[in-house]
Amino acid sequence: MSKIQKVRGFQDIYGENAKKYRYIVDTFRETFEKYNFKEIILPFVEDISLFKRSVGEATDIVQKEMYVFLDKGGREVALRPEGTASCVRAYIEEKMYAEGGYHKLFYEGAMFRYERPQAGRYRQFHQIGAEIFGVSSVLADTELISMVYKILKKLKIDFKLEINSLGDFQSRKTYTQELIKYLKQYENGLCETCKSRINTNPLRVLDCKVESCKQITKDAPKIIDYLSEESEKRFTQLKEYLKALNIDFVENPRLVRGLDYYTDTVFEFTTDQIGAQGTVAAGGRYDNLVEQLGGPPTPALGFAAGIERLILLVKDLPSEKPLITVIPLTPDYNIQALSFSESLRNSGIKTETLLKEGSLKSMMKTADKLKSDYVVFISDKYELKEMKSGNQEIFYTPEDTLEAVKDKI
Ligand code: HAM
Repeated sequence: MSKIQKVRGFQDIYGENAKKYRYIVDTFRETFEKYNFKEIILPFVEDISLFKRSVGEATDIVQKEMYVFLDKGGREVALRPEGTASCVRAYIEEKMYAEGGYHKLFYEGAMFRYERPQAGRYRQFHQIGAEIFGVSSVLADTELISMVYKILKKLKIDFKLEINSLGDFQSRKTYTQELIKYLKQYENGLCETCKSRINTNPLRVLDCKVESCKQITKDAPKIIDYLSEESEKRFTQLKEYLKALNIDFVENPRLVRGLDYYTDTVFEFTTDQIGAQGTVAAGGRYDNLVEQLGGPPTPALGFAAGIERLILLVKDLPSEKPLITVIPLTPDYNIQALSFSESLRNSGIKTETLLKEGSLKSMMKTADKLKSDYVVFISDKYELKEMKSGNQEIFYTPEDTLEAVKDKI
């Protein structure tokens, strides 16, 4: 029979990678908790217009990469390509703004983009991210960036932090006009995609990876020279604050991000250790988006990290708890084994009841394959054996055995 294979661009995450996935997510979550972020669990499917109106009609994500379909009720929906748009939709729809104060939310889960798969780039991938609603102070930009910085350090990842400012709506408009003027002069030297981007999404030309485009944009006007007084002040302050917190960063005037909603601060955490797909976490401010999607004017900012990319980078996992495997010598001792396993687990000990019956030799082989640190043979006595040394001790009650196991691990 022919085997069924996974769909191109989709992945099974199992074994060591699943452990890394969990370790990464737990590390983020622990830190989010410390910063007082609250979890939001968002839908996988949204009305397609949500992404058109937020991520942007002219972006690659909306133009080429969304999984779009009609549901049985004839609604045009999309599998979410990212989490920010849904978070903003929820913030407005659930009237969180009416509670006053400000909101700090985090989310985690699968996202879908029909991109060309390669190492670190998949059609289903997972993000963990956070958003802050209702704060315009640079304190928020600083704290968000420094939080991600600390998490990546904790994961022992080698990275570079790049920052830029896209300015507010007005500065960006003026700059875009200047950029279009400049690009038009060199139109013939640009790649086909960038030629069409001049009118649809000129900022994206700045981060095109094609050599001829890079050459042309090297001398293009820089957005930093077009910032309004307010935006410039914000960017200067952000840099000061980051320096004061000993956060290493570089300014990258070409950093524009692939989504349309950003204003002022943008940032990316990048690495050169996983090939071309080197951005592991990214984000920025999007002060107009809430209003653009029908909510009250609300400054906001956030970031998301790509979990698969982090899995490629995390080297060491914290050491695992030792495993005790409980082996009934014959089926007559099955119930005794089941209940001894339970008492071990109740004491917080990682326990496997050997589920595969067989000869003593084959059961020991299985215990070894399971990477047991100790086994306990159950018969009319309890034999505790350390796998590595072969040392063995005998006990006559489950209580004594449990105490002995506790002493060893
Ligand atoms: P993004 O840069 O599109 O931003 O995605 C964030 C991260 O998701 C990327 O830096 C990368 O690590 C990961 N990622 C994106 N696409 C793929 C893929 N095809 N395969 C594997 N990993 C991928 C956003 O999505 C924004 N929502 C971030 C944000 C939150 N901005 C403000 N708040």
